Amino acid sequence: MAYNLLKGKKGIIFGALNNMSIAWKVAEKAYEEGAEFILTNAPVAMRFGEINELAKACNTEVVSADASKLEDIENLFEIAEKKYGKIDFILHSIGMSLNVRKGLKYDELNYDYYHKTMDISAMSFHRVIQVAKQKDIMNEWGSIVALTYVAAQRTLFRYNDMADAKAMLESIARSFGYIYGREKKVRINTISQSPTMTTAGSGVKGIDNLLDFTDRMSPLGNATAEECADYCITLFSDLTKKVTMQNLFHDGGFSNMGMSERAMTVYNKSLEQE
Ligand SMILES: NC(=O)c1ccc[n+]([C@@H]2O[C@H](COP(=O)([O-])OP(=O)(O)OC[C@H]3O[C@@H](n4cnc5c(N)ncnc54)[C@H](O)[C@@H]3O)[C@@H](O)[C@H]2O)c1
Repeated sequence: MAYNLLKGKKGIIFGALNNMSIAWKVAEKAYEEGAEFILTNAPVAMRFGEINELAKACNTEVVSADASKLEDIENLFEIAEKKYGKIDFILHSIGMSLNVRKGLKYDELNYDYYHKTMDISAMSFHRVIQVAKQKDIMNEWGSIVALTYVAAQRTLFRYNDMADAKAMLESIARSFGYIYGREKKVRINTISQSPTMTTAGSGVKGIDNLLDFTDRMSPLGNATAEECADYCITLFSDLTKKVTMQNLFHDGGFSNMGMSERAMTVYNKSLEQE
């Protein structure tokens, strides 16, 4: 059901790769809610071509931009400025670690890959916000959201160097949220989403077991990509105007759990078998 929450709002959505992507769901919902936006992804991701189907369905265009390249981001914002004048929302839904992809463990990281992880997955958020601010492209009370994961704050085995990137990403939301809020009334938040079966998600070793564990551990169960998109829409809407500099958990309660009754029963049973 649509509520017209984004009627008249314009934006940029980074990171829709295929129909499993969280950004894909956000684009569909934003369109349903009356927004107009540009879709963007890295040139390599464009080759798969699926994003063009999404663009068609949302009556928009795709602009290629590598989030680790300043000139690409500047070019993207110039196109957005020509098209819309000012904009109201930006979704940063970008993550990539070559260490994870190549199966390197946290105590054997390749430092060139580590740099790339931080650049693509965290510094790109700063880059996007800085260019937006320098070009003064955001309307007052505009909203910028990035997606993160609880491993930024608690150790979750195997999330690897992405945990460090997400910690930096969350910090950028606070540091820039202060500056952009004070000067232009633009809010910046991160949403800490449940593990979700997407292309990036399936790169995390043991994601099936993790999904099962967090689903059972969370009183409300894991949050889906669609539910995450709903939450993003509320943050882009005028209903959350005073929410900024926050890391907002969207995980069915997982992040505040220690031990559930069910997990304790299973744990006790496994001890009896020893
Ligand atoms: N899937 C999960 O379990 C999960 C949980 C919490 C947070 N997140 C975060 O959600 C966001 C979206 O991931 P997803 O799960 O939808 O997976 P996804 O693979 O669909 O999206 C990741 C996107 O990052 C893009 N990307 C990679 N390198 C880029 C670059 N250099 N420039 C521009 N774009 C680039 C990819 O092309 C892709 O579209 C990521 O930040 C991810 O870390 C995912």
